[in-house]
Amino acid sequence: MLKSSVLVFLVSLLCFSSAQAQQRTRDAEGHQWWQHAVFYEIYPRSFADNNNDGIGDLPGITSKLAYLRDLGVDAIWITPCYPSPQVDFGYDVSDYDNIDPMYGTLADFDRMERQAKQRGVRIIMDFVMNHTSDQHPWFINSRSSRTAPKRDWYVWRDGRAPGQPPNNWESTFGGSAWQWDSKTRQFYYHFFYVQQPDLNWRNPEVEKAMFDVPRFWFKRGVAGFRLDAVDTLFEDPKLRDNSTLPGTNAFGLPNMVNKYNTKLPELHDVLRQLRQVADQNDAVLIGETWTRDISELQQYYGGHGNELQMPMDFLFTQVNKLSPPEFRKQIAAVDSAGGWPVYVFSNHDIRRAYNRYGDGQHNDQIAKLLAGFYLTLRGTPIMYYGEEIGMQNNDPTRREDVKDPIGRRGWPKEKGRDGERTPMQWNDTANAGFTTGKPWLPVPDSYHTHNVASELKDPNSILNFYRHVLALRHTNLQLREGRYVPLNESDNNVLSYLRSYQGKAVLVVLNMSDSAQKPSFNLAAQGFARPRVSTLLATSAKLLSDSKTVQTELQPFGVFIGEVSTAAK
Ligand code: GLC
Ligand code: CA
Repeated sequence: MLKSSVLVFLVSLLCFSSAQAQQRTRDAEGHQWWQHAVFYEIYPRSFADNNNDGIGDLPGITSKLAYLRDLGVDAIWITPCYPSPQVDFGYDVSDYDNIDPMYGTLADFDRMERQAKQRGVRIIMDFVMNHTSDQHPWFINSRSSRTAPKRDWYVWRDGRAPGQPPNNWESTFGGSAWQWDSKTRQFYYHFFYVQQPDLNWRNPEVEKAMFDVPRFWFKRGVAGFRLDAVDTLFEDPKLRDNSTLPGTNAFGLPNMVNKYNTKLPELHDVLRQLRQVADQNDAVLIGETWTRDISELQQYYGGHGNELQMPMDFLFTQVNKLSPPEFRKQIAAVDSAGGWPVYVFSNHDIRRAYNRYGDGQHNDQIAKLLAGFYLTLRGTPIMYYGEEIGMQNNDPTRREDVKDPIGRRGWPKEKGRDGERTPMQWNDTANAGFTTGKPWLPVPDSYHTHNVASELKDPNSILNFYRHVLALRHTNLQLREGRYVPLNESDNNVLSYLRSYQGKAVLVVLNMSDSAQKPSFNLAAQGFARPRVSTLLATSAKLLSDSKTVQTELQPFGVFIGEVSTAAK
């Protein structure tokens, strides 16, 4: 009797505490931590160099955690810092369970993770699933003979005729996607560089070995993964030729429609299983998903929301003009896709937003406009390091200076990705305070004006604007939970919307033009027949009136953010 009541007590205690744990990870709206977190991408080579060898490292990142927390960052995604020959600067992994000595040690990782946790910053690792380095022991074994135990861990095929690759597929980095191996007299497949052979995900042993990778890092405290190049996991078993489009690409090859080697349905089985591993660890999966449209994006969320929580929507990396109608269309589509929206403006593969959206005259104001925009939408933003201080692309001017192999191969049409990967600009001392050694990429001259230390002192800096928007995002309930309600949808110059929740709203007004604008808003239909507006944040903008219609005035690229409630009678 006594025994069984103790048991009942214990069981109910267990049920209670697991329910409590579940409750703790969701808010009143059922949202989980990653839905309110601000993510920040760090390219570790370029963030902070602690040992002054010219290359950033993990102790460097650790030393900047206070800066990141202060800025308003909740999670950092670190691009690959595993041991690697660095052909693709880390995206060619030769050991998934370690840290490259140039970045530090596992002990450095653990120290970074502990300190990050203390500050409430989560760590997201990059999971390179499609391929390994050709120096990974798996591939070394695989290429050693046709009967090697790991032969079938990669995609090996005979040519279609002597000296001819199995089909017409091209590597996205130039050249054939097939590499002849003279020792075993077969071709292996690589969607990216020759040194990045594709894993054969049809082999269950590969799947098992690869699923152990996130498990290893979850034990070390990571909060999720950004899944690299997920589109490319599977290839058509019949290896059918892809069709080509007219013209040639930067590498002088026909433009190819990658129908038979990207986005095959099989990859969704892998994502569903990986999601289970993630769910056991309260972790998030972010996808590098190059979706063409919303229906493709929806496939990555999964039919029952059981694949990626955060497939990246890259549409904002492609609009490249400040066009309210264009953005309106994209936001509406993503906002109603059924999953949680993810907004990205820049990353280590794309020219910086400062250059893509800047008009050459109002660049700093436009940088603030972008912050006022994507950090106030319903969804999770992923920032790119340096964006918050207005870092610009620094493209190489001579082929011999290029570090990224695609830039050397595609020069001058394709200059590679060095320009968006330059060292973080911390202050106005030599090398922008990134290193006292010789930085692996040159620091652009803009560091004299655009750097953390100077901008912290300037109340009107891009950095301080970011800090204010991020602070607002963390404290304002409407920005946290509110619905996205587009306003004045026929305005071609000003993009505006409400974030509406529990009888209140935040009004965001963004002048995307280079002339002054005076947009006004009748918010009766949104439940504010008698609106009262108070300014939360404004740059080159002000509130003119809030009696019945709300009137604002914005200078070129001005931003107005205000709180809307109902006026007392
Ligand atoms: C992803 C990465 C890119 C890398 C490629 C191959 O696209 O973002 O930097 O070169 O995958 O791993
Ligand atoms: Ca270093």
